[in-house]
Amino acid sequence: MQEIKQLPPHVVNKIAAGEVVERPASMVKELVENAIDAGADRVDVVLREGGTAEVRVVDNGCGISPDQLLLAVTSHATSKIQSDDDLFDVSTLGFRGEALASIGSVAHLKLRSRVATSDAGAELQVDGGTMGTVTPTAAAVGTTVSVSDLFFNTPVRRKFLRTIRTELGHCTETLTRLALAHPQIHFSLTHDDRLLHDLPPVPELRDRIAHFFGQPLAEGLLEISSQEGDILVTGYVAHPQNSRSHTKMQYLLLGGRFIRDRSLQHALSEAYRGLLLRGRYPICFLQIEMPTDQVDVNVHPTKLEVRFRDGQRLYRQMLSALRTRFLKANLNATLAPLESAPHFTKQTASLPLSTASGSRDGMPNRAIPVNLHERGNPSSAAQDTSGESEADHAAFSASAFSDATRNDVAHTAGHPVNTEQLATVPAIQVMDRYLIAESDNAVIVMDQHALHESILYEKLRKKILSGPLDRQPLLVPEPVDLSADEAAALLDQRETLSQLGIEIEPFGGETVLLTGLPSLLAKQNRGKLLQSLAAQLASPGGTAERRDLLDELLHMVACKAAIKAGDVLATEEIQVLIAQRTESKTSHHCPHGRPTTLVLTREDLDRQFLRT
Ligand SMILES: Nc1ncnc2c1ncn2[C@@H]1O[C@H](COP(=O)(O)OP(=O)(O)O)[C@@H](O)[C@H]1O
Ligand SMILES: [Mg+2]
Repeated sequence: MQEIKQLPPHVVNKIAAGEVVERPASMVKELVENAIDAGADRVDVVLREGGTAEVRVVDNGCGISPDQLLLAVTSHATSKIQSDDDLFDVSTLGFRGEALASIGSVAHLKLRSRVATSDAGAELQVDGGTMGTVTPTAAAVGTTVSVSDLFFNTPVRRKFLRTIRTELGHCTETLTRLALAHPQIHFSLTHDDRLLHDLPPVPELRDRIAHFFGQPLAEGLLEISSQEGDILVTGYVAHPQNSRSHTKMQYLLLGGRFIRDRSLQHALSEAYRGLLLRGRYPICFLQIEMPTDQVDVNVHPTKLEVRFRDGQRLYRQMLSALRTRFLKANLNATLAPLESAPHFTKQTASLPLSTASGSRDGMPNRAIPVNLHERGNPSSAAQDTSGESEADHAAFSASAFSDATRNDVAHTAGHPVNTEQLATVPAIQVMDRYLIAESDNAVIVMDQHALHESILYEKLRKKILSGPLDRQPLLVPEPVDLSADEAAALLDQRETLSQLGIEIEPFGGETVLLTGLPSLLAKQNRGKLLQSLAAQLASPGGTAERRDLLDELLHMVACKAAIKAGDVLATEEIQVLIAQRTESKTSHHCPHGRPTTLVLTREDLDRQFLRT
C-alpha cells in the first residue's frame, strides 16, 4: 500500500464536482438557487449549445462585495450557515459552499457582481481551478455568473454529455422546477439567442403550471389544501383522466426546492389506486411546508432527496388529503374535444357518437336472452377493451360466475331505477358494449364491462369487510403442482386467501393442496386458478401486503364475473346496471382504473355544432 497523503484542494474540488456538476442543468440549478438565495426577483438564464458552451445566470440580488469574491469560489466557504447547529435549520437553498468552487474546477467560471452600496462592481475569473485576481469593473447591482466550456479539462466527463437537445431538455426541466417553486420571481430562459420562456411573476402556482403544461391541464386540476399541526400540504393534483406513463410530472416542492421522495410518491399512487390503469402515474404539483427542524436536507449532494423526521405522518396526511379531495370531486371522464381531431372542418365534423344510431339498425337494443358470461364471437373477443390477456381469462373460466352474477342482477331487478342522475329516457346499448343514457344536461356513455366490474368489486369488497366469503369445502381436495417459490409465496398468504374462502394446505415438495373454494369460484378450473394466483404472488414486486393481495384478488374476481364487451343485454338488464350505478359510490372507475363513464355535456355539443 502507498503512503497516505492529504489531497490538494484542486483535486478535492474536482471530486466534489463529480457529485455536484453532472451536466449543464446542474449548473443552472446551482446558479439559479444562488440567485434566489441572494433575494433576486429577476433571474435570466442564457444558454449556448444546450449549456455545454455556456451557462450564464444574471440576477438582481444582493450581490457580492469585491472582498468576498475570492471566498465565494473557495470550497466550503458559504454565507448561509455558521455552525453545525444551522445544518438542521436550513432556510436557504444552498449551504454547502461547494457549488462555485466545484464548477470553477471543471470549467471557465466568470463572476461579476456589485452590491447596492457601491458604485462599482468587480469580477473574478477561475479557469479549471486556477484562480484569477479580483478586478474592478462596471456592473449593475446583482450578480452575473458565466460558465463556459464545461469539462474542458476533464475530457472523460465531457464525453458523457449528450446531444444539445437533450442537455437543453434537462436545463429546461431544471428551470421549470425552480419556477414552479418560486412563482413570485421573474425568470427567463434563452437558448442560442432565442427566448424560450419568459415568466413574469404570477400570484399563483397554477399560473406557472398553465405556462409550462398548458391551460387545459391547469384548468382541470383539483386543488389540495391540508394542514395538520405544523405541516401544510397545498397545491394541485390532476384529474385521473390526465396521467402519465412516468413519474416525472410529480412535482413535490419543499422549502423552495423540488424533491424526489419514494414514500410520498407511493402515497400518491395509493391515493389514485383504482383510478389509474396499471403503468400510469398521477400528476401533481404539491407544496409541502413544515418547520425546518422537521427535515434534514443534508443527505444528498444536490439535495434532491431529503429525510423527514416523521415520514409516516407526512405520508398519511398526503394520502388522506387526496382521498378526501377525490370524494368531493366529479371523477367522471369527459369526451375529448373534437378540436383535436385531425381534419376538423365545418363540413366534415363528425360527432364521436354518430355511429351509435347507424350501427344498431334502428333498434335501441335487442331483447334477446343473454348469456352474460360467454365471450362474444371471435372478432369481438379480439377487440375486447377490458385490457386483460387471454391467459387471465383462461385462468378464470368466465362461465363459473354466471349464476352468482345472474342472481346479483336479478335481485336488484325489481327495484325502481333511480332517476336522480339520469333522465327517464331508458339507456340503450350500442356496439354490444356501450350504454348510452341522458342526464340533465349531458349525454352519458358507459362501458358495460367496466361499469359492471366496478359495481361487483364494490359489492364484494363490502362483503369481505364484514367477514369471509361463503366457502365450499372440496369433497376431494385437489393437489396443484407449482414451482418451489410459487408454493412458498402462496402458503405465506394462507390467511389472506382464507378470508376469500380459498383454503390451501402444504402437501410436501412443490405441491399445494386445495381444500376449499368460495362458492363464487366453484366452477373455475381450480388448478389454473391457483397457479395464476401463485405466479402473481411469486413475481418480483408481487403483492406483499395483505390488503394489496385481497384487493388484487377482488379485482380478478370482479373482472371475471362482470358482463363482457360483446354481451348483448336485455332492457331490464341495462336498467339494473344503471340502477346499481346510481347506488354505487365508486362506479366512475373500474377497479383497474379505467373510467366507466364518459360525459358529453350540452355545452360540448353546442360548441361542436358551432352554436356558440
Ligand atoms: N448570485 C449570487 N448572489 C450573491 N451571492 C452569491 C451568489 N452566488 C454565490 N454567492 C455567494 O457565494 C457563496 C458560495 O456559493 P456556493 O458555492 O453556491 O455555496 P452555497 O450556495 O452553498 O453557499 C454563497 O454562500 C454566497 O454568499
Ligand atoms: Mg449555492
